[in-house]
Amino acid sequence: MEEKGRFPRFESVRNDHAVTSYITEQNNSMKALHYTEHSFAHVGVVTERTKYILETLGTDDHTIDLALSAAWLHDIGNIVNRVDHSQTGALMAFQILNRLGFPAEDIAPIICAIGNHDEGNGVPVSTLSAALILADKSDVRRNRVQEEDVSRFDIHDRVNYSVTQTELKINQNHTIIKLKLSIDTKYCEIGEYFEIFMDRMLLCKRAANFLQMEFNLIINEHVLM
Ligand SMILES: [Fe+2]
Ligand SMILES: [Fe+2]
Repeated sequence: MEEKGRFPRFESVRNDHAVTSYITEQNNSMKALHYTEHSFAHVGVVTERTKYILETLGTDDHTIDLALSAAWLHDIGNIVNRVDHSQTGALMAFQILNRLGFPAEDIAPIICAIGNHDEGNGVPVSTLSAALILADKSDVRRNRVQEEDVSRFDIHDRVNYSVTQTELKINQNHTIIKLKLSIDTKYCEIGEYFEIFMDRMLLCKRAANFLQMEFNLIINEHVLM
C-alpha cells in the first residue's frame, strides 16, 4: 500500500474515476456553450507545459508532482459553471485530493494554483500558479475548436482555428519565456487575437515576471510583447 505523503502522487489523480468523469462532463458543458475544447487534450497540453516550465527552471520533483495534479484538475470547476470555475474547481479538487490521502501541505499549493489560474481574478501567487497560468493561457490551437460548422464560428473559434503552430520556450539563461504562434490570417487578423487574448497575455506577463522572466509574444515572426 502506498504510504501517505509519498510522491509521485499525480498518477493517483490522473487514474481516478471521478476525476475522469468530471473532466469529460465539464467539456460536454463547454461544447454546449460553444466554448473551445477543455477536455483531455487540453489538460494534457497544460500538464506537459507545466512540467516543461518547472523542470527547465530546476524545480524539485515533489513540487513538480503537485503541479501536475493542479494542471490535470484545473478546469474541473467548469462542471459547476464557467463563471468562477477556478474557485469551484479548487474546492472540488480539495475534496478529491483529501479523499486520495494527500496531506494538507500538498493540497494547499494545488488548490491555490487552481483557484488563481483564470484571467478574471487569478493572480500568480506562487511558482506553481505562475507555471499553470503560462501553460494554460498558451494552449491556443486549431483542434481546440469544437464547432464543426465553419459558418457558425465565433471570434474564439476563428482565432483558435487560425493558429497552426504553437511553441512555448524558455531561453538558455532562463530570462525569457517565449510564446511563438503561427497564425493563418485567412481566418483571423492578429488584432483579433489581441481582442480576445489581451487579458490572458497580460496575466502571462505577470506570471513570467513572478518566475523572474520576461514574457515575449511572437506572432508570425513579429514580436508583439
Ligand atoms: Fe480555466
Ligand atoms: Fe484551461
